[in-house]
Amino acid sequence: MTKDELLQRITARKLKSDDLDAIVEIDYKVLGNRRPPYWKQKIEEMGNEKLSKSLVVEIDNAVQGFIMGTVSGWEFGVPNTIGWIDTIGVNPEYQHKGVATFLFTSIIEEFKKDGVENIYTLVKWEAWDLMSFFKTIGFTRGDMINLEYKLK
Ligand SMILES: CC(C)(COP(=O)(O)OP(=O)(O)OC[C@H]1O[C@@H](n2cnc3c(N)ncnc32)[C@H](O)[C@@H]1OP(=O)(O)O)[C@@H](O)C(=O)NCCC(=O)NCCS
Repeated sequence: MTKDELLQRITARKLKSDDLDAIVEIDYKVLGNRRPPYWKQKIEEMGNEKLSKSLVVEIDNAVQGFIMGTVSGWEFGVPNTIGWIDTIGVNPEYQHKGVATFLFTSIIEEFKKDGVENIYTLVKWEAWDLMSFFKTIGFTRGDMINLEYKLK
């Protein structure tokens, strides 16, 4: 399927708790582990709360990608004009065809409805696919610094 054909057949909708199995499979294809409890908890945290903007994309009625995000409720002292992107994942069979870009433009529309003016995300230093993706779509380094304190 070419990128143009795929973009004709793709739709975005709100993420539901029923999407758990599809998300577990995408994560498995990306990272090689099946983690149902992890994703169940995350969907409960991100998918059901009032400020959730989480979406999935379907291609030919099957979920092939997801983006989890919320509108900030003043966490970290930042105002509620901040949208957070927590996680994005695309089935490797459908990567490099614009699916993540489609997810991102779709969540932007959701954020705009809530008056979001700025979007934050955190990316691991070694996650080059994500780093490159976010850079390509226009993200720049923000002004927050990730601090950590090791107990072990
Ligand atoms: C990063 C990710 C979301 C990109 O999805 P995608 O649908 O392939 O992205 P797009 O096709 O919209 O890419 C848009 C641009 O981002 C950049 N990009 C995307 N993936 C890239 C990669 N692997 N390496 C370098 N650049 C990349 C490219 O510039 C690309 O433009 P191009 O296709 O014209 O070169 C996808 O690779 C992914 O899901 N990775 C795993 C992320 C993860 O660990 N999630 C948690 C577990 S599921």
